[in-house]
Amino acid sequence: MLGNLPFFKKKEIQPSKEEIVKQHPVPKHIAIIMDGNGRWAKNRALPRIAGHKEGMNVVKKITMAAKDMGVEVLTLYAFSTENWKRPKNEVDFLMKLPEQFMDNFLPDLIKNNVRVQTIGRFDELPTHTKLAVMKAKEETKNNTGLILNFALNYGSRDEIIEAVRVISADVANGKISSTDINDELLSSHLMTHPLPDPDLLIRTSGEIRISNFMMWQISYSELWFTNVLWPDFTREHLIEAIYEFQQRHRRFGGV
Ligand code: FPP
Repeated sequence: MLGNLPFFKKKEIQPSKEEIVKQHPVPKHIAIIMDGNGRWAKNRALPRIAGHKEGMNVVKKITMAAKDMGVEVLTLYAFSTENWKRPKNEVDFLMKLPEQFMDNFLPDLIKNNVRVQTIGRFDELPTHTKLAVMKAKEETKNNTGLILNFALNYGSRDEIIEAVRVISADVANGKISSTDINDELLSSHLMTHPLPDPDLLIRTSGEIRISNFMMWQISYSELWFTNVLWPDFTREHLIEAIYEFQQRHRRFGGV
């Protein structure tokens, strides 16, 4: 009754953005270029590695947020084939992060049915890094939820070149003919196989470039750039990116 009077009008509860986003199809595969750790640290007069450490904590939060949103694959660019050019102390620190991450978060990943995978030149990583990642892969291999895919010592050109080498050897051996080479065949030789291509690519820190990341696979991905530095990236930012993705009209070259 009172609800009919203007000043007693029932307060309408607005659904949160997260609730709205969950009511629509979310991207199956989200890929993220996690950029801005160094600037985040510099802004605080901290060493660059402090930014990477904070960035690692954000990885945990965003993994859980992606899982909650129903994302199937989350690919994170953690170390590129070009990152070896950084100062030795920074490279050493970055190579320790997978161990730290797994020491801290592997039980949570297991509990949340997350499966750890990687793309990139795995053999070239230091032994301690490989052991930590192999343990995580082994202990999560039967998990059926979110795939947390770390790009470690990954470069898209390197990946495509390797695929071309294998395919050209198959042609030379007569295993296949050059006319068998098509989109599907090349995709099946990439490190991401058999994962679906990313639907949404996010890059933080205001840089508007791809930096040798999944260049083949993002051909039809929606791109979302933000000025937010990776250590400041939150669940709400991820939800905002998915929300904007849901407003876009993907045409895949059609009309
Ligand atoms: C780019 O920022 C960031 C990297 C090269 C490293 C990203 C790594 C993490 C966020 C942690 C990964 C965690 C695990 C578990 C592997 P930048 O250093 O280039 O930043 P800047 O452009 O501000 O200098």
